[in-house]
Parts: sequence; structure tokens; C-alpha cells
Amino acid sequence: MTVVCLPDSHAVELLGPVPDGVRVVAWNGEADQPDGLAETTFWVPQVEDSTDLPGKFAAMPKLKVMQLLSAGVEDVAGHVPEGVQLCDARGVHGSSVAELVLALILASNRRLPHFLDAQRRGVWDLVQGEDLRDKRVLIIGAGDLGEQTARRLRSFDAEPVLVAHSARDGVHATAELPDLLPDADVVVLTLPLTSKTEGLVDAEFLASMPAGSLLVNVARGKIVDTDALVAELTSGRLRAALDVVEPEPLPEGHPLWSAPGVIITPHAAGDITQAGARAFALVNAQLRRYLAGEPLINVVEGDY
Ligand code: GLV
Repeated sequence: MTVVCLPDSHAVELLGPVPDGVRVVAWNGEADQPDGLAETTFWVPQVEDSTDLPGKFAAMPKLKVMQLLSAGVEDVAGHVPEGVQLCDARGVHGSSVAELVLALILASNRRLPHFLDAQRRGVWDLVQGEDLRDKRVLIIGAGDLGEQTARRLRSFDAEPVLVAHSARDGVHATAELPDLLPDADVVVLTLPLTSKTEGLVDAEFLASMPAGSLLVNVARGKIVDTDALVAELTSGRLRAALDVVEPEPLPEGHPLWSAPGVIITPHAAGDITQAGARAFALVNAQLRRYLAGEPLINVVEGDY
């Protein structure tokens, strides 16, 4: 008997049929533990709940697989016991995140916030925007999110330039950013938060972006130095579109709320109605791989 632990009964429904010999239990990580929890070998935790991980691992001493529902793993990586494979949800959120990136770029470049504002006031107030044709879009983070964003941008006749930690075919290294940034019309952040990427977008980075360019962050708020960004927005030199900020939720009265030229969405990129079904289709396929003794996909390894 293989015991699979899911966060709640809705997740159990989304998982759908499982092979014979699998028992599915639901546990939200709180004190009230279901029967059989201690036999769990395959665990899907609640999204973005990294509270008391040691306590949760202690409740599941036979655990072999921790399958996350998120693309980001920064709260968990480094805290997983020896012998447990950590897997992310690569492939689940790529289309929704890439689509929001396009929506944010188009909204900012076509000045939709200005027009909505004027509409609310009942004022016919024309300002010029710009289209994406021939625009150079630097995408920092060349995983699924970055590649899906690049593919969509090409259909708008923009010129995506992918950047990752190390260079590979068709991808530049972050070390090349000082040369790349001054030519960017848009910079999109789709990279993971790690000790190396925290604060990557600092005052110097922002100063290297050309006047009038746009920063889009759908990665993690901590990658950007918020004070430095607020200074650039306040001076009117840069625009930004932020789906992630630091801290989240952004507190009332925070200077980002009222900075000029910024669009803020509440970490909504992956939060679409289809996300649950897609995520649990991945979980179901991953569980079958595990049961068959096949290699798992999306395994997070090495330094994070
Ligand atoms: C969302 O932010 C994710 O990491 O999937």
C-alpha cells in the first residue's frame, strides 16, 4: 500500500483516479492528523505553506517524494531531508504566467492605466503608446516561464533575448547584463529566487536600463531592490509592471502603490481557473512514474 498525502479534499477530487494499492489521505499540515499519515511516501503540500517543515517531515518519516504545486521552490529547497526527492510544477504555470507578462507589457506600452483612469473620470484624454514590433525584450530566467514568454513575444514581432545564470545556445549569461541592459526596451524577470538572484535588480541594474523602458516582474519581489525601483519610478525614468512585490501582500500606504508608471497585480500570474486541474494532472502522472519506479520529472537538485 502506497500512501499519498494531499492538502485537502478538493485536491483529492482534482487528483482523479489512482492505481490500485494507493491510499490517498488529506492533511492540511495542522495538528489533526489523518490515519495512515505516518505511512506517507508521496506528499503534495498546500501551496506556499512552508510553516513548520521539520514538524511535517517528522509526521511522515517514510516520505520519498515532495511534489510542489508551484514553480518557485525557494521556501522549501535546502530544508528537505536526505532521501526525499523535491519536485516542482514546471510546465503547469508557463502559459498563464507568459500570458500575464504579455498582458502587462501591452497594458503599460499602450497606456491602458492612463485610459482607464480617464474613463473613470469621463475624460477623452489621448496619449501616445508604443507597439511591440522590433522591441528588444530581455527575459532574465530562461526556464519554462522565460521560453513561453519569448515564444509569445515573437508572434508580436518583438525581439526576445533570453538570459540565464550560465550561457548556452541561444541564451546569454547574467554576466553579460551590463552590455545587454542599455539596449533593452523591456526587461522581464522570470528567474527563481536564490541566494544569487536576491537583490539582482539593484540601483545599478535599474540605472543601466534606458529611460522610458519597462521592468516586468513575475518572479519574486526580493529579486528587486524596491527602494531603488521606487526612486526610478518617482523620477519618471522607468515604468514597471509587478505581479510580485516585497513584502506580499503589499501593505496599505506603501510607496509602490502610488508611484507613477507602475501596474501592480496581486501575485495573480498563475492563479487561473484551470491551474488546479493542470497541477493535479502533473501530480497524477508523477505518482504513476513513482509507482512504476521510473525517474521523476521536475526534480530540483543541487544548490538552490
Ligand atoms: C508562483 O509564484 C509559483 O511559484 O508557482
